[in-house]
Amino acid sequence: MPAISGQDCVKALSRLGYRQVRQKGSHVRLFCEDRNPVTVPMHPTLDRGTLRAIIRTVEITVAIVGIFATMITLAGCGGSAGPLTPAERGRIVYMTNCVICHNADPNLPGEQGPAIAGSSRELVYDRVLYLTYPPGYTPKRPTHTMRALPQLVNRIDDLTAFLAEAAGQN
Ligand code: HEC
Repeated sequence: MPAISGQDCVKALSRLGYRQVRQKGSHVRLFCEDRNPVTVPMHPTLDRGTLRAIIRTVEITVAIVGIFATMITLAGCGGSAGPLTPAERGRIVYMTNCVICHNADPNLPGEQGPAIAGSSRELVYDRVLYLTYPPGYTPKRPTHTMRALPQLVNRIDDLTAFLAEAAGQN
């Protein structure tokens, strides 16, 4: 998770169309038509849990990549947004959907899931969407703990790009 201040987060949400409706103490409440309202604490750095909760709330109706990409840009240099590479987009998808079980560093085993850096597109596709394995593939674990995430159907290429890049870095 990138380090993001409450103020940057509010800026990012504003760029998505959220409007600040009130501030109670250090908590800013934002609304957006057709989307879930969010509350952002104006802390110098939002802790992981808070940031994740905000992303989750917004994610339900907004493409996750949009909000998080904006946040990363603001956190990075506060300047202009450049288009993200597939691996960068995949990293965002991975950090929001997979690290509950897999390690934040996909080269390492996580709390529940094995190391998956370098996984082929076919493997990522079969696992994430259908919990199956490509024909002839020997699973790293014999368990059936993972849950399918069919809503990520359009994120498989990005995830694969991220996992490939992560494997190359070690
Ligand atoms: C609920 C926990 C959980 C989540 C969330 C999860 N996984 Fe898994 N994953 C596992 C576990 C546990 C395994 C080992 C097989 C099993 O028990 O299902 C696994 C196995 C895998 C494998 C196969 C590894 C191998 O080579 O045998 C891949 C690839 C994978 N996960 C990718 C992902 C990706 C990508 C995401 C996010 C989009 C994700 N997983 C989300 C728990 C999870």
